[in-house]
Amino acid sequence: MSRRYRQEDSKVEVRGFEARHYDTLMNLITFGWYPKFIRQAIADLGLQPGEKVLDFGAGTGRNALLMREYVGENGTITALEIGEEMKAQFTKKTATFRNIGLVDRRIDEPLPYESEYDVVFISFVLHGFVQEKRDIIIQNAYQALKPGGRFAILDYSNFDVDRAVWYVRWAIRKAECPLAEDFIDRDTKAMLKPFGFERFEEHFYFKNYLRLLKAYKPIKI
Ligand SMILES: C[S@@+](CC[C@H](N)C(=O)[O-])C[C@H]1O[C@@H](n2cnc3c(N)ncnc32)[C@H](O)[C@@H]1O
Repeated sequence: MSRRYRQEDSKVEVRGFEARHYDTLMNLITFGWYPKFIRQAIADLGLQPGEKVLDFGAGTGRNALLMREYVGENGTITALEIGEEMKAQFTKKTATFRNIGLVDRRIDEPLPYESEYDVVFISFVLHGFVQEKRDIIIQNAYQALKPGGRFAILDYSNFDVDRAVWYVRWAIRKAECPLAEDFIDRDTKAMLKPFGFERFEEHFYFKNYLRLLKAYKPIKI
């Protein structure tokens, strides 16, 4: 019988100790591999000077600072984040940059942005929602993007968890957010197509278990 997933079981709303030490914990649990990985993944976004980025569930600000290296002075990064500890770190880290902004707004409810952004970025957040909420998030991204814009999802790729190496299987089933396995089991591109996304580009990391999936909004709708 297939398992029923509930939003209450999600760990995506990171809080407390884990939130206050999020970046350090990511570095430690990946044995120091995370900084190099995230730098590469953000390079693979292909950000251009002047681009406008909307970051869903932005976290501590580490990603925003990396993205700023590419969009430069004339680009902007708008972060949507609800976690108190995450917002505090984000504000502190990005305080000196006038083109990085933080908005206390949920991404799993309809958003007001329409055809404004070149890129919507979501990093290790989408897996943490039940499918009905993932669909709202995808719709929000599509609506927020300019024609030709890209929705960049950095998260788990689609693979057979039963056949994954033991430590990945252990992490997914014992340590990760319980909704992650449901996300991995679903075809992410098939999830995106009904909303209008039609062209995809992929970059894979960590033995192909992680993926940056760029989904493009058509230029002519
Ligand atoms: C696993 S962390 C990832 C943070 C960041 N994207 C990164 O890659 O470092 C998930 C983030 O999503 C935020 N979050 C969870 N639910 C959210 C929601 N409904 N709206 C906005 N942010 C949310 C959490 O507070 C947390 O910062």
